[in-house]
Amino acid sequence: MIKVAIMGYGTVGAGVYKVLTGNRGEITRRLQGEEIEVAHVLDLRDFPGDPAEAVLTHDFQDILNDPEVAIVVETMGGLRPAYGFTKQLLEAGKCVCTSNKELVAEHGLELRRVAHASGVNYLFEASCGGGIPVIHVLDGALTADYIDEVSGILNGTTNYILSQMTAQGQDFNEALKEAQAMGYAELHPEADIEGHDAQRKIAILSTLAYGKYINYKNVYTEGISCIDSVDIAFAKAVGRKIKLIARSRRTAEGTFAMVAPMMIGRENLLYNVDGVLNAVQLHGNAVGNVTLFGSGAGSLPTASAVAGDVISCARSLHEPIPSDWSDQEMDLLESEEMPCAFFVRFRGSESEARELFADAELTRIPETDEIGITTGIMTEKSLMDVRSGTGHIVKAIRLG
Ligand code: HSE
Repeated sequence: MIKVAIMGYGTVGAGVYKVLTGNRGEITRRLQGEEIEVAHVLDLRDFPGDPAEAVLTHDFQDILNDPEVAIVVETMGGLRPAYGFTKQLLEAGKCVCTSNKELVAEHGLELRRVAHASGVNYLFEASCGGGIPVIHVLDGALTADYIDEVSGILNGTTNYILSQMTAQGQDFNEALKEAQAMGYAELHPEADIEGHDAQRKIAILSTLAYGKYINYKNVYTEGISCIDSVDIAFAKAVGRKIKLIARSRRTAEGTFAMVAPMMIGRENLLYNVDGVLNAVQLHGNAVGNVTLFGSGAGSLPTASAVAGDVISCARSLHEPIPSDWSDQEMDLLESEEMPCAFFVRFRGSESEARELFADAELTRIPETDEIGITTGIMTEKSLMDVRSGTGHIVKAIRLG
């Protein structure tokens, strides 16, 4: 019998309880007869009538001081008190499995080191892409490849909002409320909407892919709060959809990383990734393109990833699973140097538009008298130069 504790009985924590208890038979079979028992659930709240009520505690010490607890699930979110609790548990020789991307992006390197020094594991599959097992793929099947690109839709809430705005003509706030009601959104919605959640996720995935630490604070990030119905209408008119894309790319000149709303064409697999679905595209020099997609948020999909880590820990208790996170920080190139085509909303005449963007395609829609300009490949810096020379550019969105 392996005893497990769950810290944080919210959307994900309750999902982990359901998966570990509901799939008990399957899990025991996969552990060759060894059973997993949830011995403690830590939360400040009470849950009268809930199946976890009998093991509920309000005191972290009950978990830390229980010598039989070998694996702890951290689904509290946020940095405090999750960081202190996790560190103490790892130092006490307990494995920790988390969905907390904020904590992994901020202290993951240190916590992984503490875990390995204690001979245990700190695993975080659920921190990126919800139920999509992308970290296991990067850390396992693709470890022989030179990965040069990680790209994807890594935030379910913003993808849900943009999908509803595109397919139903729904208003931004209405779609956000729905995403919150379904348990997809972060406690503070700015983390989703302003791209900070995707920023942390692309930093974690890129660190694993490239083997050098990428500090999420250095990833250039724009959110979707600036996207309006005219952008959506223009995107439809040019056969594209707007998605919040997180991307990093290793080039001969260096590494770029960014999170920004982009207009994606039908030829891109991400075009059809709608609703709360996430997708991650990886490019390796041997494997070529790999795309993984599935539910990026929500109780059971995220719980599936956490519970999978619990099984991995149970299979290698006191035996750290090797990984190649390096402490060496990777410098990122300025995003304004990244070559890209743009969709520009222009308030002026067609001849002025053509004068500024010689090789551009122009689009008109009934919703506005602005002109839509699809530019050729250029750098953001050259677009900024054009912009500063004219007062006619309303907005520019990258093409993905
Ligand atoms: N708020 C996050 C999202 C939850 O919407 O993707 C999963 O990390």
